[in-house]
Amino acid sequence: MKSLQEKIIKDGNVLSDQVLKVDSFLNHQIDPKLMKEIGEEFASRFTNDKITKILTIESSGIAPSVMAGLVLGVPVVFARKRKSLTLTQDLYTADVYSFTKQETNPIAVSKSFITNEDRLLIIDDFLANGQAALGLLDIAEQAGASVAGIGIVIEKAFQDGGNLLREKNVRVESLARVQSLENGKVTFAEGALV
Ligand code: G4P
Ligand code: NA
Ligand code: NA
Repeated sequence: MKSLQEKIIKDGNVLSDQVLKVDSFLNHQIDPKLMKEIGEEFASRFTNDKITKILTIESSGIAPSVMAGLVLGVPVVFARKRKSLTLTQDLYTADVYSFTKQETNPIAVSKSFITNEDRLLIIDDFLANGQAALGLLDIAEQAGASVAGIGIVIEKAFQDGGNLLREKNVRVESLARVQSLENGKVTFAEGALV
């Protein structure tokens, strides 16, 4: 997605060979116009897949998911990471391991919002090691829902997540695939901008 690549080049900051900071449009401040385009792009890639619901994870998955849900005309459910005062029982839960923090944290979705009738589009902001996506797939499986695929805003193609998911025959649609962050420079797997 060309406008996303341009935004990453213009406003992204390479923090290290591993980490791309995109706080000014995705992870902290949000660019609604770009988010709308991202939603439209996800929707067009999954337009024939009879999606009934989008499943994402708080917090940065929510904005692109809502925009895609608006276009597809389906609700958006986000898995929660923190305990909720009102969300206390009848939960699907999964453990998500963080390689960065070297800890495992639970995520949860109320059983009322995903059923075996659902065909899900899973969306997240980043795909790194794929652990969050695996947790969401686990929850979908517990609910008996089918998964049409996973939509990712930025895939770090040099980390394991993409391979891990594609090896499981999960369809992964990444709007930007970063091949390398070496020497402070963003290189895209899909090639340079035209
Ligand atoms: P990992 O070990 O599988 O890589 O996951 P990790 O727990 O380290 O990921 C922690 C958070 O960092 C996740 O968001 C993930 O989306 C994000 N992330 C991973 N790589 C990058 C990167 O290069 N740049 C940025 N900006 N984020 C990255 P989160 O903690 O769940 O935060 P949020 O969704 O509330 O924003
Ligand atoms: Na994030
Ligand atoms: Na995330």
